[in-house]
Amino acid sequence: MFPRRRRSPNSTSFFTIRSVVKTLLLCTLVAHPNFTTAFNDTPVPFGSVFATDDPLTVGPNLTSGVIGNAQGLWASTGQDVLSLVVYWDFGFTQGKFNGSSFSVFSREPVTQPEHELAVVGGRGEFRMAKGFAKVKTYFADFSTADSILEFSVTLIHC
Ligand SMILES: *[C@@H]1O[C@H](CO)[C@@H](O)[C@H](O)[C@H]1NC(C)=O
Ligand SMILES: *[C@@H]1O[C@H](CO)[C@@H](O)[C@H](O)[C@H]1NC(C)=O
Repeated sequence: MFPRRRRSPNSTSFFTIRSVVKTLLLCTLVAHPNFTTAFNDTPVPFGSVFATDDPLTVGPNLTSGVIGNAQGLWASTGQDVLSLVVYWDFGFTQGKFNGSSFSVFSREPVTQPEHELAVVGGRGEFRMAKGFAKVKTYFADFSTADSILEFSVTLIHC
């Protein structure tokens, strides 16, 4: 269900977004090292940095409805195991969260089909947000760097 919001007795909002799915469709390589590095034979060699603008949809299929976009940067930062550090701003374009966004800044162990990311802040309805995102890989192709990820986000905010 999206979204669900509950007032706690001390009037701090507790916020849960379920089944937000991020579809990685657009990503552009903006920088990469000029020397041989780990994962050189993959689209995401160590040291490469990508800019992304990915649709946020309610289900895994793009036809399920686009409710926003996740814009940001991610860098390939693992030398031994493929891993990323991501900065993503999840912005909404529908309903009461239209114009609001929350920010993820976290290490992302992408090879683990289920992992967790830190939510470190937000704008608009998500001011002062703190929380975490549980991420499940619905689909991933590391040879093309395409993926469909399911996000379950829990936030506390003002
Ligand atoms: C999305 O829905 C369309 C139309 O129902 C279907 O053809 C396509 O296979 C679906 N894609 C995924 C990734 O489920
Ligand atoms: C979202 O907000 C923008 C800017 O205020 C507005 O132009 C747009 O019509 C809004 N969209 C919806 C679906 O409310």
